[in-house]
Amino acid sequence: MSRQFRVAVVGATGAVGLEMIDVLAGREFPVRDLTLLASARSKGKDLAFRGEKIPVEVLGPGSFKGIEIALFSAGASISKEYAPIAARAGTIVIDNSSAFRYEPEVPLVVPEINSDAIDGHNGIIANPNCSTIIMLMALAPLHRAARAQSVVVSTYQAVSGAGARAMAALEAEVMGREPVAGIFPHPIAFNLIPRIDIIVDDDYTKEEMKMTWESRKILSHPDLKVSATCVRVPVRRAHSESVHATFAEPLTPPRVREILAAAPGVQVLDDPRKDVYPMPLMVAGQDDVFVGRIRTSPSFPGAVDFWVVGDQLRKGAALNAVQIAESLVR
Ligand code: A2P
Repeated sequence: MSRQFRVAVVGATGAVGLEMIDVLAGREFPVRDLTLLASARSKGKDLAFRGEKIPVEVLGPGSFKGIEIALFSAGASISKEYAPIAARAGTIVIDNSSAFRYEPEVPLVVPEINSDAIDGHNGIIANPNCSTIIMLMALAPLHRAARAQSVVVSTYQAVSGAGARAMAALEAEVMGREPVAGIFPHPIAFNLIPRIDIIVDDDYTKEEMKMTWESRKILSHPDLKVSATCVRVPVRRAHSESVHATFAEPLTPPRVREILAAAPGVQVLDDPRKDVYPMPLMVAGQDDVFVGRIRTSPSFPGAVDFWVVGDQLRKGAALNAVQIAESLVR
């Protein structure tokens, strides 16, 4: 029998953690046994994996003994505290938080784009930000063909990107109940909130800067110009992004469609006259990233406009993390 691994999911009860368990089972990752870790709030809960009930354990410094691979998605502060403990115990950590993404020695990986970066890891591998992954799935193949120079992107980000409680908050508000305090700064039902994460440099948000810093690191393209505007929208799941990118070599829409149709993990859905374009309702739950509305504007020679939609809990988080694990064990 081929080798099987002792795997843990940290943050197993969260929106991404639950998806990680589902993706591990669905892709038949060679799991010998699965340890599910969360906070003391989840003590006594069981979660299903491959038809078996697994009790959720409370995360602690001793949780990683014998664990070979741990998928973390419990927020940056938990990762900062526990990922080094896990790595010291010999566990390879695949971390979905922003805690280590910008450390030069930590690989930041989208397997379709830069799986070779995994080789240099020191026990921690970072999973990029969801909006960055979804944008780069479409941008990276175009960059390889025509060298990207700049990107202006606006995101339309689903509430589940803010966690399981945020999804429940949207449902409650849509049903006419009071906005749930402490999740979003304003009501989200029937609204748009143009701030995700804290405000950092020059009044950009950290989410917007993540798209800048992470795109440069993943593409090994420190000169790439990026300006992002990240917006929370009242959508359950799947992030959408409007992208305007410029390239050193000219690209035509047929060439863009040809490149993207051949790119792994990407599907082109682009017949707007027949109302064929990707939307979050159709993309939710899917593994691939979908691209449509591909145009080149006479006003901006060398530029390509497109619309990309991806399920941020799958390719934007859990699936990408499991694909990193697959690259590791391959
Ligand atoms: P819990 O459900 O026990 O609170 P989401 O991003 O959907 O809000 O999920 C966050 C995940 O991180 C949940 O699984 C949550 O567990 C977990 N988590 C939050 N705080 C801690 C903590 N202090 N220790 C361990 N897990 C935590």
